[in-house]
Amino acid sequence: MYPKIHIHLKKYQENIDVISQLFSKSNVGLLAVTKVFMADQMLVDVINQSHVDMIGDSRLKNLKTIQTSKQKVLLRIPQVSEISDVVKYTDISLQSELEVIDLINHEAIKVNKKHQIILMFDLGDLREGVFYKDDYLKIIHEILKMEAIELIGVGTNLTCYGGVIPTSETYEKLELIIETIEKEFHLNLKIISGGNSSSIPLLSSGKLPPYINQLRIGEALVLGRETAYGNPILGMHDDVFTLEASIIELKKKPSMPEGILGRDAFGNPVKFFDQGEILRAILAVGRQDIHPDHLIPPKGVEILGASSDHLIVQIIGLNLEVGDTIEFKLTYGGILSLMTSPYVEKHYVKSL
Ligand SMILES: Cc1ncc(COP(=O)(O)O)c(C=O)c1O
Repeated sequence: MYPKIHIHLKKYQENIDVISQLFSKSNVGLLAVTKVFMADQMLVDVINQSHVDMIGDSRLKNLKTIQTSKQKVLLRIPQVSEISDVVKYTDISLQSELEVIDLINHEAIKVNKKHQIILMFDLGDLREGVFYKDDYLKIIHEILKMEAIELIGVGTNLTCYGGVIPTSETYEKLELIIETIEKEFHLNLKIISGGNSSSIPLLSSGKLPPYINQLRIGEALVLGRETAYGNPILGMHDDVFTLEASIIELKKKPSMPEGILGRDAFGNPVKFFDQGEILRAILAVGRQDIHPDHLIPPKGVEILGASSDHLIVQIIGLNLEVGDTIEFKLTYGGILSLMTSPYVEKHYVKSL
């Protein structure tokens, strides 16, 4: 059945191997992020067989079902309603709110457990974390009083909301935070979780500060590229996931609609260029599965548009028939939506 997402397990494994080798040269631990593929267990099994140190996901629902002996890390700051599940289903969580940490402490005491946290710092990207200029010593002081909470490290997230690219200058803010905390409280922060796939260029060029000993990697492992500049990483695959969809109509039609033009099915104003008659295919996949901007078509296929259930493409110089299929590469957002669509069949490919 189509649409089908092909999941190339061996390519994912090879991508993990490339990143693991790169990281091990600089003594940086690899936390593999599973949320883009809904923590699919076949891919988690690949992680389980690898040198990945920890598994991270932003959704507790995923962390609840993952089968692994690796440590499970909650990446999104938990909701108050999730506190008991955080303690139950995760080993470590990223945190930024003292009130939430306090609630976790009480829950952990109740169930006689210890919970490890990494306190996040916002270095200017303006997503989660204690703002680096705020009085964080007061927060640390309170955390250290909590009997069921173990502060194992600090972390930061960049290139997410503000698009801030990791640089030595940005990381100097984190270095000051680490030095200040360790000096003030005479403690050793075990984990310095310095960022995501956007920190890879700094690492590759030998400029990642040596105190950073963990990166949390999602996109690089599935698309074989870093995210600071979007460059491919040598030896990695950009097609761990591909989409195959089938042609349900193939006809020559005019490129300009006829009549008075209003809006498309999504209420957007329409715009067309008259190219005369063109060969168009309609594929049985739509915005309910994936936004057309997230599809990367093969040569000879140009995306014209999509409604909820129909993708319309122009065919140039290819010999196709109704019932044939077309395979697309995907963006990160495309993988994310296809892996969470119940209408898309998953097909696992074990060989290269
Ligand atoms: C806190 C956190 N760290 C790391 C990542 C992974 O980022 P990337 O996919 O750019 O490697 C994400 C997003 O998935 C995240 O939310």
